[in-house]
Amino acid sequence: MTPALANQAPTLDPIDNVTVFVGEQVSVRVVPRDPEGVVPGLRIIDIPAGAMFSDNGDGTRTFKWLPQSRDAGSTKVTFEAVDALDENLRNGRSMTITVLQNEQNEMETGNLPPEIESLVDREVTLGETMDFRVVPYDPEGVVPALRVENMPGGASFDDNRDGTRQFRWTPNSDQIGAHQVSFIVYEEKNQSLRTRQSVTLTVKAEQDIVNPEEPQPPINSAAPQFEDLTDQFVYLGQTLNLVVRATSEDGSVPGLAMDRMPVDSSFFDNGDGTRTFRWFPYPVNLGDTYVNVIAIDAHDPSIRTDKTIKIRVERDPNNPVNFPPVINGIRNPTIRAGDTLNQLVQPVDPDFTVPELSALNLPNDAQFVDNGDGTRDFRWPTDAGDIGDHTYHFRVVDSEDASLTFEKSFTVTVAEPSSFERSGERLRVLAERRDFLIGYASVLNAPKIADNELYRQIAGDEFNMVTPENSHKMGWVQPHRGVFEWEDADDLAAYARDKGMVLHGHPLVWYTQLPGWVQFMDVSEAKTIMQEHINALVGRYRGQVKIWDVVNEAISDNDGKLRESVWYKGMGEAYIAEAFKMARAADPEAILIYNDYDVAWFNTKSDAMYNLLKRELEAGTPIDGVGFQMHLLSDFTDFEGMNNNLQRFADLGLDIYITEFDVSMSSNDELEQQAEVYRRSLEICLAQPRCKAMQSWGFTDRYSWRSSNNPLLFDDKYQAKPAYYAWQRTLRDFLR
Ligand code: XIL
Repeated sequence: MTPALANQAPTLDPIDNVTVFVGEQVSVRVVPRDPEGVVPGLRIIDIPAGAMFSDNGDGTRTFKWLPQSRDAGSTKVTFEAVDALDENLRNGRSMTITVLQNEQNEMETGNLPPEIESLVDREVTLGETMDFRVVPYDPEGVVPALRVENMPGGASFDDNRDGTRQFRWTPNSDQIGAHQVSFIVYEEKNQSLRTRQSVTLTVKAEQDIVNPEEPQPPINSAAPQFEDLTDQFVYLGQTLNLVVRATSEDGSVPGLAMDRMPVDSSFFDNGDGTRTFRWFPYPVNLGDTYVNVIAIDAHDPSIRTDKTIKIRVERDPNNPVNFPPVINGIRNPTIRAGDTLNQLVQPVDPDFTVPELSALNLPNDAQFVDNGDGTRDFRWPTDAGDIGDHTYHFRVVDSEDASLTFEKSFTVTVAEPSSFERSGERLRVLAERRDFLIGYASVLNAPKIADNELYRQIAGDEFNMVTPENSHKMGWVQPHRGVFEWEDADDLAAYARDKGMVLHGHPLVWYTQLPGWVQFMDVSEAKTIMQEHINALVGRYRGQVKIWDVVNEAISDNDGKLRESVWYKGMGEAYIAEAFKMARAADPEAILIYNDYDVAWFNTKSDAMYNLLKRELEAGTPIDGVGFQMHLLSDFTDFEGMNNNLQRFADLGLDIYITEFDVSMSSNDELEQQAEVYRRSLEICLAQPRCKAMQSWGFTDRYSWRSSNNPLLFDDKYQAKPAYYAWQRTLRDFLR
């Protein structure tokens, strides 16, 4: 008898590490193999927030992720193949995804490749001559050289002696049809800096010409057509210029659009009905990229034609290009004399090599600590003698070509400590006087930010409540089942205790910012996993977290239905009641709230939230309060709606918490208008006996999830804005 063969562990095909820019999609197919041929299960560990791991239906899965600025740095993702018959048999593979911050200006401070003024495709009839000028330009003003590739027989390309050249061609009858001709412009000194522009030159026989007497097709609704839109090829170091032209049968000029454009590419209007897609790819783009070009009928925008084209980017074997390294992500900080600056300096090289980083000047008493991974920490204890602006220069040198360097200067403002003082009393003092909570959300890893000492001083002085902006989120805090990352959450809990702040936990159950293992869990386990998670968090901070956002954002935006989150899929609507019951059991003293956004005024979503909470309360679900996030815009005016809306929730017997207040502006002129939205919203809360807290989502524009809209109380240099004084006055003077 042959002994039964032992079941062997499945394996995964190799997976390469990748480097991408912010905003660029990573897409990786993960292929498991099983020696016995039984399709193994596949899972992902450490999935980044927002990534997907979708089933291709053939045993493989595709990992897709569009990293955001906050993801800059490197992220490790692990895939695991699990034997279908024995889940102890498994094998993993990890990939490191390096996300580069795309600071275009910095990337381009080097010499830029010359370009050609956009050329258009042309047609010529047999017997005629095609004759056009090719005009190069160089952003730095050097006169570049020009050459042509695939020149048709009989054509000429003469020097006009003014930097331009003339293309002339009288085709013969053997040349009927389309010819792709490429013009290449390059810098004589550095031929890797060049741009290629290809055009299609079509030779028509006489009879092709449409007889103008022939009846014209009627205005029609046939979809527009692209002319000669084909897959493209470009070498690294070159700029692709692709002219896109579409026509409609009725002669009208269709609109043109593009989606899935690579970061930093453009699709500009040539003013003649055509557009040019221009792209200078980086090594991260090597291989194939697909863009989608759309032509839209001029009369009826619902009539459109889509075409996906492939752009292949390769290294030119004869002309390897090396990109200079850069230093990203340093913003000039402001600190107080007496504080220690702690600035991380992180170089990146588009070629994925590790450049050498040095400081050209440093204060005498500073340290420039090597972190062993190519980055360094610039640590500088300052004192009163340092008051003023200090500029330091960092240099990175390419590890393969020492002539490729990049310098970054960085200005630290060391200010007189008194310049951060605010007149009047601190917000928390005023709030405590009326038994009210005034809170903020704390940045992740606050002790590691450059200006931590100032950040925490202001936070501690002004607020009596704090929420971690990210570190209670499941994706952060429980990256693997049963494995918890408590460091930041513990640190914040200790800080809150130290400063006598109420700790507000956020959130226990949410549809997003989940770890991969939860996004792809077997939903029949949802309830157990939810229970474990709630027990762990609420249990650890029992007696410390006074308020928990138990369920966050359960309602969809438009139709008011429940979002089809993993929790909903596993447990149905009951997940909401279950979550509250679990939290109540884990800490009977904690205040439990439901939290959502865009529900501050009357709309479908707030109606849905009202009905949901009413239903839950009637069923006995232990919900104490409702959190209104209130991410508003400075043109918000519906204060009456806000007031009446809060009232209907208060009438349900719920306490009201404003949990994530911020007011985005579109221009800086609106500071007073922003302050007005701060004031009126706080007044509404103070006037409402059930409104217990007003919390802003951060406090300085420097660290805001909507930083570019300056939505917070302090500007990015920690100066109190009109919004701050509006809250101060309101807390002081407003009578209920
Ligand atoms: C945001 C954080 O501010 C960001 O740092 C993070 O990258 C994404 O999440 N509603 C919520 C908050 O409940 O948790 C969100 O916070 C903002 C919207």
